[in-house]
Parts: sequence; C-alpha cells; structure tokens
Amino acid sequence: MQPFLPSLEPRDDAAPALASLADRAARLDALLRQSLDFHGATDALPLHALHPFPAKYPPQLPRWFIRHLTRPGERVLDPMMGSGTTLVEAQRLGRVALGSDIDPLALTLVSAKMSPPSPAAWDVAWPRMMQRAQAWLQRAEVLARLAAQRWDEPTRRFVDYWFLPETQRALWALMLAIEEEPTASVRRFARVVFSSLIIAKSGSVAQARDLSHTRPHKILKQPKPVLSLFAQKARRALRLLRQSWPVAQTPAIVVEADAQKMPWAEGQVALVVTSPPYAANAIDYMRAHKFTLVWWGYSVQQLSALRREYIGGEATQGWEFAPLPAVAQHAVQTIAQLDAKKARVLHRYFTEMRRVLHEVARVLMPGGAAVFVVGDSTMRGRSTRTPEALAAIGEQVGLRHVRTGVRTLDRDRRMMPARRGAAQSQIEQRMHREYLVGFVRPHAGAEV
Ligand SMILES: C[S@@+](CC[C@H](N)C(=O)[O-])C[C@H]1O[C@@H](n2cnc3c(N)ncnc32)[C@H](O)[C@@H]1O
Repeated sequence: MQPFLPSLEPRDDAAPALASLADRAARLDALLRQSLDFHGATDALPLHALHPFPAKYPPQLPRWFIRHLTRPGERVLDPMMGSGTTLVEAQRLGRVALGSDIDPLALTLVSAKMSPPSPAAWDVAWPRMMQRAQAWLQRAEVLARLAAQRWDEPTRRFVDYWFLPETQRALWALMLAIEEEPTASVRRFARVVFSSLIIAKSGSVAQARDLSHTRPHKILKQPKPVLSLFAQKARRALRLLRQSWPVAQTPAIVVEADAQKMPWAEGQVALVVTSPPYAANAIDYMRAHKFTLVWWGYSVQQLSALRREYIGGEATQGWEFAPLPAVAQHAVQTIAQLDAKKARVLHRYFTEMRRVLHEVARVLMPGGAAVFVVGDSTMRGRSTRTPEALAAIGEQVGLRHVRTGVRTLDRDRRMMPARRGAAQSQIEQRMHREYLVGFVRPHAGAEV
C-alpha cells in the first residue's frame, strides 16, 4: 500500500508508524495518541498574533492534523473559525482553506490575516492614515456630529459609558481616516489594528479591563494617547507582516455562515478541525467584540440580536430540543436535578452541536476526518460530559468516533476568562484541559 502522504517532517515521533497507515481513520487514531500539548512551541506564523482572540488554539494543533491527514490541494474546513488558525495553517500547507463564522470581528480578522497588504503597502499606508486622522482631529464640529449621526441612543449610551470623550474623538478621527483608504486589504488590516487598541491584553483605550478575556470590568483611567498607540500597533503589525511575508496564496473561501447550516456542497471536504464555543456562554465573544464593532458601524441592538445566534447561548424559550444519545441525556438529567434551567441550556448546546455534526457528516468526503476541540465544562459542579456526548452525537448523525485525545492548556498562551477570586475556581477547573474528539465519515456501505 502506498503511504498516504509523500513525506513527513523529521520532528514527528509518530512519523514511521504513520507512514505505513493507509486510511485516515488509522492515521487519526495514531495522531490522537501523541502528545498534543504543543507547549513552548515557537514556530507559529507571527501574523497569528495580530489581534487577540479568546480560546484560540495553538497553530501547531490544526497543522498537526492537516499535515498528516490531507494532501496539498484538498479542502480543509473550520466552520467556527474564530481567528482563522485552521485556515491560515491550511493555506500555508497548500490546502484549500474553507471557513465560516457569524462574528463580524472574526470575519474581518481572518480576511486581514489571509489577504493582508504587502509590508511595503502597509508601511506607506499607516503614516498616511495617521496624518489624515490628525487633520480630522482639528475638525471638532465634524467629530461631534458623527456620534449623533451614526449611533442610535442605546449605542451612544454604551459608548459614553466605556469611552472618555477625548478617546471617542480620537477614535472617530482614526476611523474616518481608515474609511478613506482606497484599498480594501489596507482598510481591513487597519480596522484590525484599530480594534487591537480596544480589545487588548492590557492597556485598552476603553475604560475597561479584561476585555480580551470577554469579561469587561469598568475601571477609571487617564485618557490614552490613541494616535500614538495606533502608531505603535501599526509598527508592530508591520513587523509581524514582514516576518510572515510572503503569505501563502492557495485558494481560500471565508464566508459569514452559521455552522448549523453550512453553505458547502456535500462530500467535498477532506478534514475539519474546529473548536466550538463552550456551553452557557462561558466565553461571551460578543460581550467583548461589541467594544470594537460599534466603531465599525454596528448598533448595540444589532449586536444583541446577533449574540442570540451564537452556539452555546443561554436562552431556551421556544427551542426544539433534539433527542440525545444516552450519555448526553444522562448529563442533562443529572444537572436537571439541581438546576432545571441550566439543564435546558445544556440540552440546547447539545442540540446545536448535533446540527453542526450533522452538517460536518454531510460535507465530509467518505473517509474524511474531523477533529472537534472541546472543553470539559461543569454546571452546578457536575460534568457536562461534553467530549463523550459529542462523540455519541457524532455517531448518531452518521460519523464514526475514532478516539478522543487529551491536551493540557498552556495557561499563559490560551486566553480564557480571567482569574477572579473564589468564583474563578469553577471556570479554571473546567478549562485547564481540553479534548480532541476525532471522527471519520465512513465510506458508503461501511458500518458506523
Ligand atoms: C473557540 S472559538 C474558535 C477559535 C478558533 N479555533 C481559533 O483558533 O481562533 C469559537 C468560534 O465559534 C463562533 N461561533 C459561535 N456560534 C457560531 C455559529 N452559530 N456559527 C458559526 N460560528 C459560530 C464564535 O464566533 C467563535 O469565533
């Protein structure tokens, strides 16, 4: 039998065994037995650090599976792509990258990372934007009118609560300068750099801390020098661009789409690597991202409506709950004995994940593989049994569960909700490990 892949890079301990494995299921099984921690790895593409994103996984993780489970030219999909780690790595390895998300920040960030301006173009563009922003700053009457023209009352209240008046003026000046930029790739990239002033690991220009962990808390601080901070971030972005240049150019398609209703044709995808949100809004993307998105023209009402579409939400009224396999049903019932509402939230989550898995089973080619990276949540101190539940739900919708691998998180790298007093321990406990649930789509006629 021919080896599945022409060559394997030398650092793989698994290489000799893998090379002799003929089908994806056997390979996936072998890959999931290896160490999956990737702590201390230093070979990530610098551009991955362009903007923080909560719970993004290390690039080495999708890379590991893409390299060993697909050939150049095959399609690799992440239907909940976040910051696009899977897509960027697929592209770098010459695969066709497909991705979707419903989060507007994620969509712009991924496009900015995958089709950035050249370093030379950015080097010219950002000082030009700074100059225009300085000019806009002189026009106080225009900036004052903008807030009234572009925001409705609730959005203005939100912005007034979190941003000082002079910070608002500088951010408006910068946004106007960015909007005037003629080239789409420069504009997109600049918007992401703009966002990194607000959603920052530390030193946000908003009157908030812990934004990058999706747990904003109001704090009072001195106004920040927005334009000089933009210059700093723009220079950093230039460095990352230069270190990552040239970016790979294999075809990629990024779309705004719900992972429960994928726009892709049946049977075309060789591999899915994805990490869905946690149940019960444990990481509340919109809560943080709206700090940027109001500046990009969204109203807080639009964003609240969009938040309801996120997988793992807490609203359960009017939900049609799916029938669950025994292990998932048991987890829901155990929690129901302590908290009926939380149990419904978990049932909603499993229902959503069933739809996603059903779609994955449809779009995978026969023999194609999928890896779902999930946490082990607790509700009211009881395990949600998420990895086992997803494995069983996958089998329910026609996938074959191959194996579940385990990895420990590098707390310094993976951004999770911030530590906070006694209440932190539950979140902390349930987020220090994660599970990689591996599936294949069986060939026609094969038994699941
Ligand atoms: C854990 S993050 C993914 C992080 C990603 N693996 C990375 O490395 O950046 C989960 C993503 O699921 C997205 N999401 C939530 N609900 C969704 C839905 N209904 N359809 C598509 N994506 C959704 C969120 O916006 C978020 O970007």
